[in-house]
Amino acid sequence: MQILDGKIVAQHVKNELKTKTDLLKAEGKRVPHLAAILIGSNGASETYVASKVKTCHEIGFKSSLIRFDENIAESDLTAAIERLNNDEDIDGILVQLPLPQQISEEKIISLIHPDKDVDGFHPVSIGKLVQGLPAFIPATPYGIMLMLEHYKIETSGKHAVVIGRSNIVGRPMSILLSQNTYPGNCTVTVCHSRTTNLKEICLQADIIVAALGKPGFLTADMVKENAVVIDVGITRVPDTTKKSGFAIKGDVDFENVAPKCSYITPVPGGVGLMTIGALMMNTYNAALLNKG
Ligand SMILES: NC(=O)c1ccc[n+]([C@@H]2O[C@H](COP(=O)([O-])OP(=O)(O)OC[C@H]3O[C@@H](n4cnc5c(N)ncnc54)[C@H](OP(=O)(O)O)[C@@H]3O)[C@@H](O)[C@H]2O)c1
Repeated sequence: MQILDGKIVAQHVKNELKTKTDLLKAEGKRVPHLAAILIGSNGASETYVASKVKTCHEIGFKSSLIRFDENIAESDLTAAIERLNNDEDIDGILVQLPLPQQISEEKIISLIHPDKDVDGFHPVSIGKLVQGLPAFIPATPYGIMLMLEHYKIETSGKHAVVIGRSNIVGRPMSILLSQNTYPGNCTVTVCHSRTTNLKEICLQADIIVAALGKPGFLTADMVKENAVVIDVGITRVPDTTKKSGFAIKGDVDFENVAPKCSYITPVPGGVGLMTIGALMMNTYNAALLNKG
């Protein structure tokens, strides 16, 4: 069994981007600039945005953090996005989800200019992805693809089971794995909360991507020998032994599943770290698109 180490692969991605950014600087060109919008003070969102900003700094990208109060009116947020859309110095815009109740996520995502949609959630980005055109790929599935590629994991002809069909993880993941590319060319089964024979389906899988948000859901009796298991889940569970008061748990019962696998991602230290690396790749590519 080999651990798919998100720290190593993400560092590799960051080093590559830093080299490219240093070159831009040496040539006197502008560096990629990411604008992150954070609304309210949700602990997890604060942590995610802080690490995105920190990673920009490490690579040499510019970043701007724009904070709004939890009670912001939708019209004020749309005005802020319009400003960023029109700001030639901004290459990528991300709005940290979830948003407060009074704001429509769908509307806000659709307002971001597709050329600056580094989260890859805009309908234009998803449409391009489905058609196999160059697109901003949602960062989590993109990070998983980079990881499969880094470890040269064979995917062609394999049966991949994706548990979860959300727009940000499960669905784009299933599309990517089915595409005629490497990684890809899998036969893909997408499972969700209405799937009746999940265990039987998982037992047929060469590759399982667990993205449902239920800690320890995928147990050893659901996984065949030598499967590749990718754990996307991130759930905070109370843990009094931790200073923070919580521990981060994945969707896989790692301790019992890992011995059966050929490869497996840990949580933490797996997919989560790749997500930020992939976001940075999208931001770099957005800067190439931005002719200012
Ligand atoms: N590592 C990262 O960087 C990263 C990034 C994003 C998300 N995540 C984590 O990944 C997990 C999933 O995130 P998400 O945004 O995709 O969640 P989501 O929007 O809540 O979607 C969960 C999906 O899982 C399905 N599901 C729920 N219970 C199920 C069950 N018992 N059996 C089979 N399928 C079930 C749901 O089915 P229905 O469609 O039928 O409801 C849904 O499609 C969460 O833990 C989240 O925190 C991690």
